[in-house]
Amino acid sequence: MPRAGTSVARAEPAEAGPLPKHVAIIMDGNGRWAAARGLPRVAGHRAGAQAVRRTIEAAIRAGVPWLTLYAFSSENWRRPATEVLDLTGLLRHYLRNEVTELAQEGVRLRFIGELTRFPPDIQTELTRAEQVTAANTRLNLVIALSYGARGEIVEGARRIAEAARAGTLDPATLSEEGFGATLLTAGIPDPDLILRTSGELRLSNFLLWQAAYAELVFLDVLWPDFGETQFAAALAEFARRERRFGARPG
Ligand code: FPP
Repeated sequence: MPRAGTSVARAEPAEAGPLPKHVAIIMDGNGRWAAARGLPRVAGHRAGAQAVRRTIEAAIRAGVPWLTLYAFSSENWRRPATEVLDLTGLLRHYLRNEVTELAQEGVRLRFIGELTRFPPDIQTELTRAEQVTAANTRLNLVIALSYGARGEIVEGARRIAEAARAGTLDPATLSEEGFGATLLTAGIPDPDLILRTSGELRLSNFLLWQAAYAELVFLDVLWPDFGETQFAAALAEFARRERRFGARPG
């Protein structure tokens, strides 16, 4: 059961305060949603895909320019083979059937993660989706697939070390910006708001470098039940927070 006390589920309008430029979401609770209804886990993931649609619409309506969704972690490959097949099947279906509509709505798609671990036909669809939406500007939608932050950081460090060994980088000149540019999120603003559903209070290897100053909001709602009301509640909570980025209040 979702834990009590972590919710910010008051559906207050967010107009009063600042709007996050980038909202990143850990979509959790599909399995528990299905179990609570005596349904197989795949039914929870299917309902989760509907919540993805609602959330994209909500972000567009709210005017949030960047939205990142954690759809599949590097660790998710360790789930039973049938569930991995269900999730990749759902992703394939989503890419084949939804990209045209997303493109028409002005959504630009970008995928981050170890994309080469997916079957070749899915990789082709991912590239196609990025290409056909490349000129869109209404909403930047980043989908994290086979993503893990530690692996991403190690890969960045490896690239820096190789550049230093090749003599093209002086380690003394390495900056936070320079390191950030080696990550999969190069060119993407850091998230201002990270949201996790299902009452779990963890980041689970999601955007660890990029989360440095993000506001964290944990909602008790299971992901398939997430929609515009919960999105608005999270924006309202963000608007109430005082962000100081380590500095003293002025
Ligand atoms: C977490 O719930 C959710 C996932 C591991 C997969 C997320 C996938 C979707 C929302 C649908 C597909 C998305 C796209 C973009 C096509 P869980 O299974 O860990 O739930 P539990 O913790 O209750 O078991």
